[in-house]
Amino acid sequence: MAAVGPKRNRILAFIFATLVVALALYFFLYFEQDLRNYLASRMGSRARAEDSLINIPKLILFSLLAFLAVRALSTIIFDFVFQLRRGYEAPTLVRNIFSLVAFTILFLLIFNRIYTEVNLGALFTTSAIFGVIIGLALQDTLGNFFSGISLHADRPFQVGDVIVVGQQKHTGVVEGITWRAIKIRTFQNHVVLVSNSNAAKEAIEVCPRDNLNARIVFFGTLYTDSPAKTIHVVREAVRDADNVSPKITPIVRIRNLGESSIDWEIKYWLEDYAKYNDTDALVRQRIWYALRRSGLTFAYPTRTIQLERKVAPKPVTADEQIADRLSAVDIFSPLSTEELQKLAAATVGHVFAPGETLIRAGDEGSSMFVVHNGRVQVQVTENGRPRPVAVLSEGDFFGEMALFTGEPRTANVLALEETEVLEIGHVAMKHLFETNPDLAESISWTIAERRASLAAGSQQLAQASIEESAGLLSSIKRFFGLR
Ligand code: CMP
Repeated sequence: MAAVGPKRNRILAFIFATLVVALALYFFLYFEQDLRNYLASRMGSRARAEDSLINIPKLILFSLLAFLAVRALSTIIFDFVFQLRRGYEAPTLVRNIFSLVAFTILFLLIFNRIYTEVNLGALFTTSAIFGVIIGLALQDTLGNFFSGISLHADRPFQVGDVIVVGQQKHTGVVEGITWRAIKIRTFQNHVVLVSNSNAAKEAIEVCPRDNLNARIVFFGTLYTDSPAKTIHVVREAVRDADNVSPKITPIVRIRNLGESSIDWEIKYWLEDYAKYNDTDALVRQRIWYALRRSGLTFAYPTRTIQLERKVAPKPVTADEQIADRLSAVDIFSPLSTEELQKLAAATVGHVFAPGETLIRAGDEGSSMFVVHNGRVQVQVTENGRPRPVAVLSEGDFFGEMALFTGEPRTANVLALEETEVLEIGHVAMKHLFETNPDLAESISWTIAERRASLAAGSQQLAQASIEESAGLLSSIKRFFGLR
């Protein structure tokens, strides 16, 4: 109803303008001859000039009348006939082209009639060069113009359709297509003008007004929620929401099994696509309430963290294993289990690479070693060259002489393979001697016996070793400050 007022005013203004022009033309034609005579009497010899003075207003008045006639014809054709037959408003561009062509033709006819002496054909021919210049100057404008014509001929969309144009994704409702541009009303109520030539080059996504256009809305639920229940609840909640088309039932489906949720999408069809923002929001709201009522839960990003207890780094060898190993060493065989455990706790494990030197002859030394894993070679240097004396393996010991006597190392000891040894220091042994006075004697005998067996087991050497053990015992006692 609001449009009726301005329309009526326009019609009244049109009738008034027509009357004024027609009246002016009538009076002009009525007094034309008198005017000519008057001008001829005033101007005398310049008869041609008087013609021009009369013809110019005549041309203007006839052109105005032609313009009004074209407007009237355009209104009759497009506002009444076209709209009644097609059911929609005629495109502005078509109307403009019609008006332009009709007016040009009428103007040329009037011009030809008034200026009979002017040859229009010759005029157009001679002005071809100007046509080229004007054509180049109007390249963009003409590009838009012809793109507009092709858009209309193609009719990819109409006023009222939602379109998305180009890489910049100008989205909105088409408000009109002029000879220069497509006018889009965005959802922020801005007007975007996309020139016809640009629109002709770009991809245009059209969501026609009379088409059931679909939208997709995403949501997520917990993995503990039943998918079948979710589908039912959400579909029923959305299908009767405002602007959701009842013609097609919404589709609820699992889109992805996400990191912390089942990812869903709901596809629904809209009655009025131009309101999709509001409808999307309403659909989300419906989903929230429906899930709440049904005991289903929206998922939000979660991460399951499994805490791992920090395990203390395992020592190279466990105390029990060390005690076991020490108990197998013949010099420690007299020790009780408790003493062995104390000794094991006081040992330090070392690993050597094949070929590494563990002991160097002549060095000071205050600890002995038990081979835990691997093998070592004892070498003595004779004439500047190393001579292997013995190979010691698991359970054997070495370095005891320096430890128990305080003398320098008597030989080199090298690892033959990757070897793990247990180091027993002076303090640990002293403590053992203090709590176990018989140990020094027992060790000195054991060492002596072992040395004897290493000395090829000869009776003589064995006897010498036994004799030596008495001296060894006193030197051990002296070195460790024992009585
Ligand atoms: P120590 O003198 O402290 O350092 C070198 C070690 O080599 C020595 O103690 C012994 O333990 C060991 N050793 C020396 N000679 C022999 C041998 N003939 N047989 C076995 N081991 C030996």
